[in-house]
Amino acid sequence: MSAAPSRNLVSIGPSVLSADFLRLGEQLREFEVAGVEYVHFDVMDGRFVPNISIGIPVLEATRRGTTLPIDVHLMVTEPERWIQPFRDAGADSITFHVEAALHSHSVAQAIAASGAEVGVAINPGTPLSAIEELIPFVDQILVMTVNPGFGGQSFIESVLSKVERLRTLLDERNPDVVIQVDGGINEETIASAVKAGASRIVAGTALLNDDRSVADNVRDLRLAVSS
Ligand code: DX5
Ligand code: ZN
Repeated sequence: MSAAPSRNLVSIGPSVLSADFLRLGEQLREFEVAGVEYVHFDVMDGRFVPNISIGIPVLEATRRGTTLPIDVHLMVTEPERWIQPFRDAGADSITFHVEAALHSHSVAQAIAASGAEVGVAINPGTPLSAIEELIPFVDQILVMTVNPGFGGQSFIESVLSKVERLRTLLDERNPDVVIQVDGGINEETIASAVKAGASRIVAGTALLNDDRSVADNVRDLRLAVSS
């Protein structure tokens, strides 16, 4: 995914989960107008997380509706079953949860073999040691800043120290790996996440709401990081 040309530049991806699905095409155009770097696509199976969201047909429609890179976040058990179907449907990067994979190294390799960028995600309660051995094999590490399953939850502040420790580890072992954060990112929380070492940002409810345009919300998020 060409979402972040350098890990030092902050890239922002709106979460399709917060979109108004009745007018998905229109919302995708709003993302492009707002100048976001990528689109985040949350897949939930009702087993790994206590919610069911969107899947392949909606990804195919999303692919037709935008030229932005699509970043698929698989919150599903047995992620190995879903790599090729989601790649075929239009994913540019595929992130699986280490907690959901029996053979995490093989999953990472299968994603790479599909041609997608490789991402691995860890929940707030999962220690860094769970993904340490995968560092040479991934392009991005998604540090969840909420427990996955729902949009609109509050940012878990204590995860920031994990982001900091991960950035240090990555700088030693594989500096090109990007840290992504997802959950509860808004004008108040984005700066602390970026300061800790995250550079790829996911935002749902902060960008997609009835009050203001996506472009205005994206601008405010970027301002919150630069000030
Ligand atoms: C949570 C999802 C997130 C979610 C983010 O399980 O992975 O991508 O849509 O939504 P906000 O930004 O509202 O927390
Ligand atoms: Zn997500």
